[in-house]
Amino acid sequence: MCGIVGYIGKNNAKEVIIDGLKRLEYRGYDSAGIAICKDGGLEVRKAVGAIVNLEQVVADPAFDGPVGIGHTRWATHGVPSEVNAHPHTNEDNTIAVVHNGIIENYVEIKEELIREYGIEFRSETDTEVIAQLIGIYYDGDLHEAVNKAVAQMRGAYAIGVIAAAEPDKIVAVRKDAPLIAGIGKGCNYIASDIPAIMERSRQVYFIENDETIVVTADKIEIFDGNNKPVEHEAFTVTWDVDSAERGGYDHFMLKEINEQPKGIEETLLRRLDEDGNIKLDGIELTKEDLDKINKVCIVACGTAYHAGLIGKYAIEKMAKIPVEVDIASEFRYRDPFVDEKTLFIAISQSGETLDTLHALREAKRKGARVLSVVNVVGSSIARESDDVFYTWAGPEISVASTKAYTTQLTIMYMLGLYMGRLRGAIEESYYQRMVSELKEIPAKLARYLEKQKDVKRIADRFHRDNEMFFIGRGLDASVSYEASLKMKEISYINSFAIAAGELKHGTIALIDQGTLVVVLATQDALFEKMLSNIKEVQARGAYVLAVAKEGDTEVEKQADEVIYIPDCPDELTPLLSVVPMQLFAYYVAKARGCNIDKPKNLAKSVTVE
Ligand code: F6R
Repeated sequence: MCGIVGYIGKNNAKEVIIDGLKRLEYRGYDSAGIAICKDGGLEVRKAVGAIVNLEQVVADPAFDGPVGIGHTRWATHGVPSEVNAHPHTNEDNTIAVVHNGIIENYVEIKEELIREYGIEFRSETDTEVIAQLIGIYYDGDLHEAVNKAVAQMRGAYAIGVIAAAEPDKIVAVRKDAPLIAGIGKGCNYIASDIPAIMERSRQVYFIENDETIVVTADKIEIFDGNNKPVEHEAFTVTWDVDSAERGGYDHFMLKEINEQPKGIEETLLRRLDEDGNIKLDGIELTKEDLDKINKVCIVACGTAYHAGLIGKYAIEKMAKIPVEVDIASEFRYRDPFVDEKTLFIAISQSGETLDTLHALREAKRKGARVLSVVNVVGSSIARESDDVFYTWAGPEISVASTKAYTTQLTIMYMLGLYMGRLRGAIEESYYQRMVSELKEIPAKLARYLEKQKDVKRIADRFHRDNEMFFIGRGLDASVSYEASLKMKEISYINSFAIAAGELKHGTIALIDQGTLVVVLATQDALFEKMLSNIKEVQARGAYVLAVAKEGDTEVEKQADEVIYIPDCPDELTPLLSVVPMQLFAYYVAKARGCNIDKPKNLAKSVTVE
C-alpha cells in the first residue's frame, strides 16, 4: 500500500522522510521517492525496490533541504519503475505530488490536458495527472491551485504537494484515504499513517474527508471542503509502534479481515462505468473473442484455487461456458487439453507462485489466451499474461490469505457477468440485479463485521479440539474448503472439508460424540438437503455449528449454534459466508496461542515447486 511522509522545518527533510518511509515498509511497496525544495527549484529522486536503494540516491549533500515529501509506492496504474514512482512533477518540474489512492477520471483529465495544453506525459500513472493539473492552475498560490485541481478530480485519495516557488509550505488533501498532520517543535509533518511520524511527533490531527491542510514550519491550517478554516483537536498517540502498524488490531490477519468491505468496493466500484456496467480495465474481450473460446481453464493454488472453484460456478452459470478448475501443481504434469480455443485464467495474490507461473507458461505454449487475476502489480504472473485483471486488495501481510480471496471472488463474479452479458447468455434484468446486489456486499459485510461477537465465544469453546469438519453443498462446499484451510494453516487443527452429500460415502465414520461439524447452509435451493445432513451428523453425536442467511430461522431448530450472515442471493453468499469462517479460524488460533500472522512452515509467496 502506498505511504506518504512530508516534513517542513529546520532539519534535513530527507532524513526525516527516509525514517518515516522505513516505518511504513512493513506494508509492502515496490518503489519509493522524495522531492525537496532546493534553491528556488525542486529536486526529485526515486528508486525501485527497497528504501535502502533510495537512501543511496539521496545520500549526497546536493539533496539536503528543510522541506520535502516522500512516498512508497504499491503499483496500481503502471508497472513498478522509477518513472512511475512518486513524487510526480508537472511539465516544468515546479510542482511535485505524492499520492495514495486512485483518481477515477484520470484518463478524462489526461486527455483534456493533452488536447488543450499539449502536455507530454512521462509516466503511466494517475498521479502525474494531478501534478500536471495543479501546474496548469498554478499562479503563485499553491493552496488555490490545489483547490482548483481537486474540484476536478474524482476518486479516493490523499495527496501531498510542494511548489518550487513556495518553499515554505506543504499542501495536502484527504478524500477517502488516510491523512494526518503531525505537530513538531519548529517543524511539522504530514503522513498517511501514524507509524511514519510517531517517533518524532505524538500530537497529530486526523484530517477528515474533503479537508485541505496548509502546513508550514510553525503552523498547520485546516480547511473544509468549502475552503473555510476549521479547528481540530490534536490527538495524542499513546500506542506503541507495533500496534500502530497494525492499525490498532492485534494481528494483520484481523486487520485484513476487516479491510474486506473496502477491498471488494475498490475491486468492483472502480470497474463500473457511468451506467453501472462492468468494464474490464481496457481488457479487450469481445463477443468475437468469446465465440472463439470453447472452454475456460482456471488454475491456481491454495486459497486462490478455492476462489477458482467459485469462478467455475460463476462463469458456467452466468456465461454458460464450460470451466475446468485445476490445482497448478496438478495441471502442469497432466498434459491438460488446452489449445487456442481455451481462455486460461491464472489466479494468484502474489503473482509469484511458481506452480501457477509454470502452468501459465504451459497454457501459453499450447496457444491459450492467458488472463491473470493478480494482486501484486508487475509480478511475474502479471508480466507474462496477455491480460491482467488486478484485485485491488492492497498488500496482504498476514500469511493467511483473506482479503485477497474475497477480491478474487469479486472478480470471478464480474468476469461471469461480463462474459454472460456479452454472449447474451443471461437476461439483462438478471445482469442488472446481480451488479446491484454485488454493490450492496461491502455495506452488508461492514455491517456484519461491526456486530459479530458470537464467533469469538464459539471459538473459545472449541479451541482445544483436535479435529473439525466443514461441510456444505454447491458454493457452500467450496467455501468449506477455504474455511478448513484457514483453520489448519493458522491453528494447526486437523480440519477436514467435504461436500456434504459425500459424507455418507465414507467420511461420516469419523464423526463421533462431540465432534464439531461446521455446516454451511446458505443456499436456499439446497437448504433442506443441508438440514438432512445436520440430522445425519447429529445422529452420530456431532455438535453442529451452522452458517445460514438471516431469515432462515428453520436452521435454529436443528443446529446447536447458528451464525447468521446478511441475506443475499445464493450466487453471492461466498463473499459473506467466508468471513465468519476466517474469524473463527482467527479466534481459535488466538485462543491456542498460535503465531497467527506467521504460521509455522508457511511462506507468503511460494516460489518453490
Ligand atoms: C492460504 C494461502 C495460500 C495461497 C497460495 C497461493 O491462506 O495464502 O494457500 O493462497 O499459496 O498463493 P498466491 O495466491 O500468491 O498464488
